Formats: sequence, structure tokens, C-alpha cells
Amino acid sequence: MNINTRPPPLPPEAFRRYDEAPDEVFYQHPRFVTHIDLPAIETVTQLYREYLPANGIILDVMSSWISHLPVENEYTRVVGLGMNKEELERNTQLDDYVIQDLNDNPVLPFEDNTFSGAAICVSIDYLTRPVDVLQDLGRVMTSGAPLVITFSNRCFPTKAIAVWQRLDDRGHIDLVERFILEAGHWTEIQKLDRSPVPGVSDPLYAVVSRCI
Ligand SMILES: C[S@@+](CC[C@H](N)C(=O)[O-])C[C@H]1O[C@@H](n2cnc3c(N)ncnc32)[C@H](O)[C@@H]1O
Repeated sequence: MNINTRPPPLPPEAFRRYDEAPDEVFYQHPRFVTHIDLPAIETVTQLYREYLPANGIILDVMSSWISHLPVENEYTRVVGLGMNKEELERNTQLDDYVIQDLNDNPVLPFEDNTFSGAAICVSIDYLTRPVDVLQDLGRVMTSGAPLVITFSNRCFPTKAIAVWQRLDDRGHIDLVERFILEAGHWTEIQKLDRSPVPGVSDPLYAVVSRCI
């Protein structure tokens, strides 16, 4: 896709979900599980090592009880935003957390130019307004700050948006790029296949970009 092209919005049907109940119902109970296997998690951590500033102020969007950040880095501050209080409370990498349903309110509760890096791990497929969230992320991040979006081939099918369910892995990478281009705040978009051991471990894809 041409970097200068801003794609038109997808139709509303693309963002429907089988389970249209408020997300707070689905996420009311904690899930102290990992959503991808260990080699895939280690790959996420390696991507963070490569792209997120080691002493930065980091936002973990759609966070849970683990953030996968490299333990050797001493980030100035790490903030998580997610849906389940018990999960976020147990996350030892967070200095602070916020509970907010981004499908209900995609405006992030932070000042402009707050974060020097952000991540969304195995969660972008649950956003019904991904472009609005990515647009507002551009507001709260500093110019040049990296955004690392990672995903695999698993999801909670009743909560993933319809267009995600219709696409294969390659299609997911292009869809995330499309959302980023549509949001308009991002440049230097990289689409990466970092699958650790193809055919053995969970695949791991990333779309990395920088805030304009
Ligand atoms: C599959 S889990 C991934 C959690 C974590 N990022 C990880 O790597 O383990 C999906 C996460 O997305 C968050 N989430 C789902 N829907 C959300 C929403 N509408 N607004 C904010 N966060 C949401 C949930 O709190 C949950 O932690």
C-alpha cells in the first residue's frame, strides 16, 4: 500500500462481533493465562527491545497481567490500559494502570505528547474503532515515538471484529497497516513476520510505525 494513500473507512459491518454485549461483561473475570506460546512471547519481548526506548515512558494498550517488556530495561514509567482490574493489579511491569473500554470511549485519558513508546499485543482485533484509537494514540505520543502492534493467529472468536475473522495472517498484517494509514498520525510503517519456528510455535507478526 502506498504510504501517501489514506484508505477510505471500512463499512460498519466490518466491525461487528458475534458477541455485541458490553466488553466489561466478557472481561469481568481475570484470565491469568498467556495468549501465545513462550517462543512467540519471547519474540514480542525482542521486538520491544529493538524498538521501544529503554528508558522511555511506555503505554501498554490493552494490557493484562503481563506486558512482555524486557526485564533488563529500566523504563521511566510504564502505564497499562485494559479491562480487568485484577489482571492489571498483578502486572509487576506497570507503574500505573487505567481501566477503560476503548470500544465505548476511544479517547485515551492522557495528556498530549506523554509517551515515548507504545505497544498493543495480541489485542488489536478486539477494537471496534481501531482507527479512532490509533488516531488518539498519535496525540498522546511524542513525535518519532514507536508503536509496536503484534498479533498471532489466535483470538477470542466471539469478540474479534468480523473483518479479522474473514482474513488470513497475511490479510491481518495488511489490515493493521490499513488502520494505521487511515489514522494518519503514523509513518515509517514496517510489516514484519517474526514467527519464531514456522509450523511449530505460534506465528508472530508485527506492524511497527512511528508517530509523526
Ligand atoms: C488477548 S488479551 C491480551 C492481553 C495482553 N496484551 C497480552 O499480551 O497478554 C486481550 C486484552 O485486550 C483488552 N481489551 C479487550 N477489549 C478491550 C476494550 N474494549 N478496551 C480496552 N481493552 C480491551 C483486555 O483487557 C485483554 O487484556
